[in-house]
Amino acid sequence: MKKLKIGNISLDNNLILAPIAGFSDVGMRKLCKKYGAALTCTEMISAKALLYKNKKTADLLATFEGEKPVAVQLFGHDPKDFYEAVKLPILDKFDIIDINMGCPAPKIYQNGDGSHLLSDIERAKKIVAAVKSATSRPVTVKFRSGIDSGHIVAVEFAKAMEQAGADAITIHARTREQGYSGVADLEVARAVKEAVKIPVIVSGDCVDRASYDKILKETKADGVMVARAAIGHPEVFSEILGKEVKVNKKADIFEHIAELEKHFDERFVLLSMRAHLSQYLKRAQIKSEKRVEILQIESLKELKNTLNCIL
Ligand SMILES: Cc1cc2nc3c(=O)[nH]c(=O)nc-3n(C[C@H](O)[C@H](O)[C@H](O)COP(=O)(O)O)c2cc1C
Repeated sequence: MKKLKIGNISLDNNLILAPIAGFSDVGMRKLCKKYGAALTCTEMISAKALLYKNKKTADLLATFEGEKPVAVQLFGHDPKDFYEAVKLPILDKFDIIDINMGCPAPKIYQNGDGSHLLSDIERAKKIVAAVKSATSRPVTVKFRSGIDSGHIVAVEFAKAMEQAGADAITIHARTREQGYSGVADLEVARAVKEAVKIPVIVSGDCVDRASYDKILKETKADGVMVARAAIGHPEVFSEILGKEVKVNKKADIFEHIAELEKHFDERFVLLSMRAHLSQYLKRAQIKSEKRVEILQIESLKELKNTLNCIL
């Protein structure tokens, strides 16, 4: 297994847990790390909301004990917001600053954030330069191929990010228009890898060892990210790494809940766990009627009792 170095941060392997809004919380990250992810990352966090000291946003910065190295992913469109946010002491614990330039969600795009930056390369460069000037930590950028199939800008964008000072980039080779449909275009990812000298991480459709090998073979990338395949299935990392581990689904789910309980109130834990449980329980082959019933439970005590009975 190849290792990966991002700036001055050395990773144990080249397999990374992707930022996943609504999922890659501190509990999921703890399990993915346990199963071998070399780097974890928060979900996307608004640089502006951090500056406004928004409590819900600050909650997303929770990390588990020993979560090292860990990246924080910021989104926004104003270089000044990024500059000031990166200097906030609450971000000191993060080893890498990642910038989201790929989110396709309409609310984000229409605000000039996320994938909108693919159509404003000069602004994207200013954001990277602002973050670089605010911190000595490695700065990375995660982006898509382009806005739509008529505007594939990945190679030009990758070069611009490198020129602006990015220490590594992640390409999710789908367009904004594609959302999460179809398959990621490995030719675009390979062209990006060939265009720059900094490490290139590929995101998209890595679900097992075979897809991991295919991505590395076809793109020559330096690293691979896993997103959807890790939801409810954090052991995907050990499967890809070829590590023999005994998986105890029930213990994992309880560990996930326990980590969330260290940081959040009951309501937040319940809501967060609903999203995860739907996948955990599907994979544990719990019948759909039972799953629906479990997802409606309104107290953690009852949830734990029910999980204890069915798992
Ligand atoms: C529900 C969901 C939320 C996501 N949230 C983020 C995010 O916060 N930041 C980001 O850069 N990408 C986000 N992504 C994109 C993933 O990181 C990843 O690039 C994409 O899902 C393709 O990888 P996969 O095939 O392994 O899922 C999200 C994807 C999904 C499905």
